[in-house]
Amino acid sequence: MSNPGYHNEENPYFFREPRIGDSRHIHNLIGNSRPLDLNSLYCYLLLADHFRKTCIVAERDGNILGFISAYLHPLKENTLFVWQVAVDETVRKQGVGSRMLEELLKRPELKFVSNLETTVNPSNRSSQSLFESFAKRLGVSCNMSILFSEDLFGDADHEAEILFRIGPFDNR
Ligand SMILES: CC(C)(COP(=O)(O)OP(=O)(O)OC[C@H]1O[C@@H](n2cnc3c(N)ncnc32)[C@H](O)[C@@H]1OP(=O)(O)O)[C@@H](O)C(=O)NCCC(=O)NCCS
Repeated sequence: MSNPGYHNEENPYFFREPRIGDSRHIHNLIGNSRPLDLNSLYCYLLLADHFRKTCIVAERDGNILGFISAYLHPLKENTLFVWQVAVDETVRKQGVGSRMLEELLKRPELKFVSNLETTVNPSNRSSQSLFESFAKRLGVSCNMSILFSEDLFGDADHEAEILFRIGPFDNR
């Protein structure tokens, strides 16, 4: 089946791999999801194509209402690095972000993943809550350290990126 999402009246979302045709909608969603950095459309095309096995969208009634970009960390074994998470503002705080993380890790090809990493800006309360609550549900620790300090962004007026390392957990 090409669309292995869970879908019924109570849970009207499909959680699935992104398709190339979703890229414009993902680009719009990220553009409307401050404070996320908006990358080029080409970047989202590559994510939806080359990295679809580690990315996920939440679709409802044909609309893309959530997106996570992630990739397997090239230097750390069994570690999934979550790059951007966005949920349409009309459906925030309804568990869509949490469900996307959970559905992503349920994929058979990601069973070996035992740690999740991401970066969070210090002022982004919703992002912090999303990942802290995820770690809490798994019953594992969430260690924080600075990955990219503010000065690395030069004049861009960009907050530091704090690395959250969640795990280890048994995902089998
Ligand atoms: C961050 C974001 C993806 C969270 O998605 P969401 O679907 O609203 O998250 P959930 O409903 O699954 O909530 C997860 C947890 O975070 C908490 N939370 C969500 N938004 C919150 C907020 N604004 N303030 C405090 N807590 C918040 C929820 O209460 C929940 O906690 P719980 O599990 O203990 O009940 C969404 O707010 C968003 O798209 N923000 C803009 C883009 C962004 O900042 N992305 C993150 C950086 S990568």
